[in-house]
Amino acid sequence: MDVRTGFIVLFCLIGLTRADPVKYVDCGSVTGKVEVVDINPCQSQPCQLHKGQDYSVNVTFSSVVESQTSKAVVHGIIAGVPVPFHISKDDGCQSGIKCPIQKQQFYHYLNALPVKSEYPSIKLVVKWELKDDNAKDLFCIMFPVEIVG
Ligand SMILES: *[C@@H]1O[C@H](CO)[C@@H](O)[C@H](O)[C@H]1NC(C)=O
Repeated sequence: MDVRTGFIVLFCLIGLTRADPVKYVDCGSVTGKVEVVDINPCQSQPCQLHKGQDYSVNVTFSSVVESQTSKAVVHGIIAGVPVPFHISKDDGCQSGIKCPIQKQQFYHYLNALPVKSEYPSIKLVVKWELKDDNAKDLFCIMFPVEIVG
């Protein structure tokens, strides 16, 4: 394999594993500012989530407050109705964030989005919030997904 082919192969591999920024709506981040939202793997938008697979969520944000704690609250909005969605780890301080959270600091919030095989094949909107000490949203994002078989 020559150098040129090597580079092409390398770029293709990066293309397959790279997390693409997801189009999201900010639903009221108060004490922080969202920079990038990555769901991996997500090749198309809205992200197609296959049953039985885990997806990684990576929200890059900056904080405008200090906070000892951070707690994630996740809802699936199905036909306009928010349904609480259970994630195994709701402590943001155990999800890639080093606490206490400092002012003017950037953080990568990392978690998994498990898609159980018993979920129905529907389109829904995921609403993901991360709350600070005062239960204010460090971030609040909404992004559409489609659960497929
Ligand atoms: C999270 O996303 C940011 C911005 O895209 C990136 O710099 C960082 O490496 C990602 N972290 C992980 C663990 O994927």
